[in-house]
Amino acid sequence: MELIIAKHGGFCFGVKRAVEAALDAAKAGGVYTLGPIIHNPSVVAALAKQGVQVVNAIEEIAGRGTVVIRSHGVPPQMITQCEALGLHIIDATCPYVKRIHERVVQARQSGRHVYIIGEEKHPEVMGIAGWAGEDATVLLNSQEAENIPKTQYGLAVAQTTALRSNFEQTVVVLREKVANLEVFDSICQATARRQAEAREIAQKCDAVLVLGGKNSSNTRKLFEIACQHTSRVFAIESAEEIPLAEFKPDDVVGIIAGASTPEWIIKEVVCRMSVLDMNEQVDEVMQEGAAA
Ligand code: F3S
Repeated sequence: MELIIAKHGGFCFGVKRAVEAALDAAKAGGVYTLGPIIHNPSVVAALAKQGVQVVNAIEEIAGRGTVVIRSHGVPPQMITQCEALGLHIIDATCPYVKRIHERVVQARQSGRHVYIIGEEKHPEVMGIAGWAGEDATVLLNSQEAENIPKTQYGLAVAQTTALRSNFEQTVVVLREKVANLEVFDSICQATARRQAEAREIAQKCDAVLVLGGKNSSNTRKLFEIACQHTSRVFAIESAEEIPLAEFKPDDVVGIIAGASTPEWIIKEVVCRMSVLDMNEQVDEVMQEGAAA
């Protein structure tokens, strides 16, 4: 078996920064995140042991402790609400997401309608929409863009983890609908590199393991990319979930990981796959020995 391991796997800069901020603040106790800090249950559980607790509604922690804003960012109303509840805020919004907030605020002030290309219910998109104002339009794809009314001035931005092909196709349709359209290509470089590498690896492999949280949007996109190039693609969150029986001794297996996957999970998976490979080699030698 040959393993091809992605170079651009694991925590991205924004996630790493948010996790470090939460861990640092937890030393003083009473640290909360609104929703899991990243879409990876093992990491969330490990952080909980260090004192970083998840709450589902900000009212649950009114008047006590520190709230860490995740790398996805939040709408401005949420910051106002945290302040009103007397919470200490650590804003770990990824700087690349912050840049989108700034652009949509400028667009709104100059009378441009904001189009966000992404998933309506994704926290990052909900945050951007909050900064863009109530009338912002979220578009999942070019089909949805076909249905919008024509307008004069607009700004198109992307969810940082959007698939580039989907973003570009949607912008093509938007250009037909919006006479004067500004486009801010806000797809994160880390995401773009990861997706390009996933494509490259999947093209060379018989099977691919995609590591990441089941609710992680960027991991899901890596899975979709891998599925375009090979039929044996397995999404797993940890080494325990590797479907060992699915691999054959002469397989070339790719290992790629989403932005919410820590290094230790990648290492465990690589380790377990290497052991599987060694076991297969030992089995082969033993069988040859028995036949001789
Ligand atoms: Fe930031 Fe890019 Fe990660 S936008 S949170 S560095 S995927």
